[in-house]
Amino acid sequence: METNVCVVTGSSSGIGAATARLYAERGWNVVVNFSREAAPAEAVAAECRALGEKFGADVLVQRCNVADDADCRALAAAVQARWGRCDVLVNNAGTTKFVHARHLDGLDAQDFQNIYAVNVVGAFQMTRALEPMLKLSPSGAVVNVSSIAASTGMGSSIAYAASKGALNTLTMALARALGPAIRVNAIAPGLVETPWLQNGMGAERYAASVAGYKARAALAEIIQPEDVARAAWYLGVDATKTSGEVLAVDAAIKLMPV
Ligand SMILES: NC(=O)c1ccc[n+]([C@@H]2O[C@H](COP(=O)([O-])OP(=O)(O)OC[C@H]3O[C@@H](n4cnc5c(N)ncnc54)[C@H](OP(=O)(O)O)[C@@H]3O)[C@@H](O)[C@H]2O)c1
Repeated sequence: METNVCVVTGSSSGIGAATARLYAERGWNVVVNFSREAAPAEAVAAECRALGEKFGADVLVQRCNVADDADCRALAAAVQARWGRCDVLVNNAGTTKFVHARHLDGLDAQDFQNIYAVNVVGAFQMTRALEPMLKLSPSGAVVNVSSIAASTGMGSSIAYAASKGALNTLTMALARALGPAIRVNAIAPGLVETPWLQNGMGAERYAASVAGYKARAALAEIIQPEDVARAAWYLGVDATKTSGEVLAVDAAIKLMPV
């Protein structure tokens, strides 16, 4: 039997790296993608190779800025050349600008364009580039990594929250457009322990946010990248009758008053 293939964008760190590791550990060939620094991607690829060794799982490291359509098409061509198939795409690459919601002057039109280019257009472009292979898979699926910011309006900035709202709508629209061959779903993580917020907020604000989150979430936890990875497996592989949905992985913070 041919080995399944999973492409995970933004997989040199955090949630994407955990997702690539999980798929490799379960015997899939994986693409580890980055846009800036190759070294962390190579390190994640080495972990994936070790985890998938007993299955002979193969790993391709590919630089691709998902905001650049030519890069997305080049990634798809590399997957086609290496394995000739793609079964699951996890659109995880994301970007933001940290700006307090009340500081409207902290965001300009270009900030919105930059954030949408990665978080929304990037997911669309990657899906379009891989559609021909996903369509031929017996179980093609796309998983978009959104955020609870889409439904709360909170998060690193208004532009970021709006982009994740757009990503949820893109998820529904693509689920309609690409069914029945391809399922399209999204995950809405809460606060996840990755370099993203630690770098963006600085140590002190980050520690306060973690404490505040734990105090408010019904499950009294923040999220680990592996929690989101398991949801990316569920929606990518197991949820064969689900499409167009957004799955919260947020320790049930929405249940509690803000
Ligand atoms: N951390 C959280 O609390 C949280 C909560 C909700 C949702 N999310 C979402 O989860 C996703 C991953 O976040 P994370 O926390 O795991 O972040 P992270 O640890 O900072 O990792 C981000 C990854 O994306 C890559 N990347 C950034 N821009 C890219 C681009 N234009 N094209 C391709 N790859 C790109 C980065 O590599 P390079 O730097 O080399 O490009 C890196 O591999 C994002 O979509 C984020 O919005 C995170």
